[in-house]
This record gives sequence, C-alpha cells and structure tokens, in this order.
Amino acid sequence: MNNALPKEFLWGGAVAAHQVEGGWDQGGKGLSIVDVLTSGAHGVERVITDQIEEGRRYANHEAVDFYHRYRDDIALFAEMGFKCFRTSIAWSRIFPQGDEAEPNEAGLRFYDDMFDELLRHGIEPVITLSHFEMPNHLVTQYGGWKSRTVLDCFVRFSEVVLRRYQHKVKYWMTFNEINNQRNWKVPLFGYCCSGVIYNQEPNPEECMYQVLHHQFVASAKVVSLGHEINPDLQIGCMLAMVPLYPYSCHPDDVMYAEIAMRERFLFGDVHMRGHYPAYIRKEWQRKGYQIVMEAGDEAILRAGCADYIGLSYYMSNAVRAHGAGTGTALSGFEGSVPNPHVQASEWGWQIDPVGLRYTLNLLYGRYEKPLFIVENGFGARDQKDERGEIDDDYRIAYLRAHIEQMKLAIVEDGVDVMGYTPWGCLDCVSFTTGEYSKRYGFIHVDKNDDGSGSFARSKKRSFDWYRQVIASNGETL
Ligand code: BG6
Repeated sequence: MNNALPKEFLWGGAVAAHQVEGGWDQGGKGLSIVDVLTSGAHGVERVITDQIEEGRRYANHEAVDFYHRYRDDIALFAEMGFKCFRTSIAWSRIFPQGDEAEPNEAGLRFYDDMFDELLRHGIEPVITLSHFEMPNHLVTQYGGWKSRTVLDCFVRFSEVVLRRYQHKVKYWMTFNEINNQRNWKVPLFGYCCSGVIYNQEPNPEECMYQVLHHQFVASAKVVSLGHEINPDLQIGCMLAMVPLYPYSCHPDDVMYAEIAMRERFLFGDVHMRGHYPAYIRKEWQRKGYQIVMEAGDEAILRAGCADYIGLSYYMSNAVRAHGAGTGTALSGFEGSVPNPHVQASEWGWQIDPVGLRYTLNLLYGRYEKPLFIVENGFGARDQKDERGEIDDDYRIAYLRAHIEQMKLAIVEDGVDVMGYTPWGCLDCVSFTTGEYSKRYGFIHVDKNDDGSGSFARSKKRSFDWYRQVIASNGETL
C-alpha cells in the first residue's frame, strides 16, 4: 500500500482578513461590520455597537497589522515551506459601502501586491470571498442579507475580484462557515455571517432560512460565474464541521444525532447537490415557514454546485435525546452534552482527533467530492519561558494527532483531501472572543488584550516542527 500523501498536497496555514490585517480605515477601506464589534474575553460577549464608541476597545482595527507587514509574514510562511496560504478579501476594501458601481482601486491593488508576494515565494493563495465581514452600510441601509439587493452587491464584488485575480488565485471559497448562523440564538454568529441579529427578528428561524436562501443563490451564481470567467478556477463552499455523536447507543440518541446532524448537512446538501433536501422542506411545512424564492432560483442552485468542500474542524460534540442539555454554547444544538471520553480546551472546545477522520469519511461518503481542511488548530494562552521562547508542545501534540487521523482518512479510507491549512498560522484576533490571548500561531505576535505590544513577530517551537512536517510531506510528525 502506498502510505505517502499526494505530492501536490497543499500544506499551508489560514487566517481571515479582519483577524490579521488592521489598517481598518486605510487605502480607502470602508467601515466593516467587524469594525463596530468590540473586543471581548472568554465569558465576556463581544458587543455590536453599530458605530464606533469612545472608550471601547476594537481589536480588529489594528488586528496584527498584516496590512503593513505582510511581506515579512509571507517570508516566514515561505521559511516553513507553505505551499498555500488561505486568507479572505475584505469586501469593504473593494467596495467601501458595498453598493457602489465602481470598485476602489487602492483596495484591489493591496490584494494584487499581496498575491504577487505569495506567488513570488511559490505559495498558492486560497481565498475566501466572505469571511465574517461585510460593509457596514449594507447592514444599516438594507438590513444585511435579508435583502436581495445585498445578494446582487455580493455577486458584483465577487465578479470584480474573480476577474481581476483569475490568473493569480485558483482556489476560492464563497462563505466561511456558512452554517454557524444555524445557531441563531448567538447574536455574533448571525451578525458575522449575514449582518443580521436573528433574535431581534419577529421570527428568527424563518428569517435565518430566508437569509440562507439568498446566500445559497449567491454562492451558486458565483460558482457558475467563476467557471465562465475561467474554467480552471476551483470554487468551494466552506462548512464548520462539528460532528454530533449520539451520546449513547440508545436508539433515541442515535436518531436524535441523525436529526441534529441536519444542522450541518443542510449546508453541504444545498451547496454540493444543488437542491434543498426533503427533510428541510418538511420542516418548513411543519413550522409554516414561507421562504421567498424567485423563479429561476432553483435552476441557479442546480447549475452552481461547488467544486469542493472546505471545512473547519476543531472539535466534536455529543447529543442525547432525553435529559437537560448541558452542552457548550458553540455546539448550537439543544441537547448537546460534554463527551466524557474526550478532554476540552480552556475555552470548552472538546479535543477529538479521531473525530476528524470520522468527519472526513462522513463528508466524502455523502458527496464524493474533494475536501480541503482549511481550519484546524489549538487556541491556547502561550507563555514565554525565561529565555523568552514559547514551547508550545500542547499545540504540536494537537496538530500531530489530527494530522495522523487525516493521513488515515487519506491512506486507509481513500478520502480525497486536497490540503491542510491550520488556523491562525500567525497569531491573530480570536473570532468568538475578540482576544489576542487565544493564540493559534506558529508565529507569535507581540500584542496583548490591553492593546499593548510592538507587533514584533517571533517563532514558536511549533514553527520548526511544522516546517519538518511539510518538508517530509507529513512523514515526520
Ligand atoms: C472559525 C473561524 O470559526 O474558527 C475563524 O472561521 C475563527 O474565523 C476560528 O477564528 C477559531 O475561532 P476563535 O474564536 O478561537 O478565533
């Protein structure tokens, strides 16, 4: 048996524009929804302030200053041997308000330069079109993705960047973790995915499905358009995959988990199969939901199936049919409970490497399309030792165990995995908490939650470890 990973396997790292760039008001960039989202902490919610309020801290304004330092950061990625680098395009750099007819040339030039720098080092850019941000004006003026106008604005933005970068960027994804907003009770998720705070709506769940319909149509239009612009482009969807295990082998728990997993599969089903599955139509009927669709939408969905599934995998969860749910807020499914067989990080994320192999098999078995692990990683509070160095053995242990399981999925199970880009390869601002202190990187950034710090970069122990992993194509772990 051939135990080696494919030679063209895309090792790399991942971030998102708003979590690294900073330069929030530079180069003609408009106000984005994350620019009015405060810093929080573990157990302290981030606040959506609508406009910038005096005396509040907004970590995304500076983030880790990648906007000014990307050349040095890319040199460090190249030193690790990255084959690819995943980031996103900040929509508000290209269309500051979102609904203009013409794009902002300075914003386009920034990404041109950054992509050129990557390509100069032989690093393939992997680009998400919408990663938890949009121009704030589209929210205040149109109500975010509730409005079909925003769909048109997004397609215009996507067309501009697909045309402009078609010869620099081959791998694209439409909406990052589109399924996060299924957990509509957490305001942050709806807000960042769509600019909508669902629990302020008269019927939050119905509103969420309407918003999703707009995004599914937008994604399908962008896939078709991208293929028209350049048939070589690979345009994927992106799902947050937290598998929900049955808590026990009680048939009720098994059935409950099957139903719970629809919270994940709905998104893959529409993106990859190009139509709504029977179970969701039944749910809408049962609940009396009227999702407004235009004539032609179904054909658009059918024509615009994604080329691959990008996925994040950090943890698994368990669900049980009976008894009070005591699950983590992040699982999103009522009835979820901590799994006694796995341990959790300080932030309650349950660490389960085997769950990655399980997830890859689940997705490949269902869709038989290539998978790209575009996020995986361990958020931790790194401490410098007396030599000023960070020995992040816990991070190495987490990544090693997950890579081992990924290899089993590829080599033993035959799953087609295109690549692996651990999250936050460069320390960045946490999405859920808005902290700096929840760190994922191989590269440390000297920046702290109180705003202090020089932005200086330094290598953690994991830096050399990952360099060896890539150099040996996953043999030396
Ligand atoms: C995913 C997101 O949810 O997880 C990233 O796509 C995010 O944007 C990552 O940063 C890790 O989450 P957090 O809250 O630890 O930063």
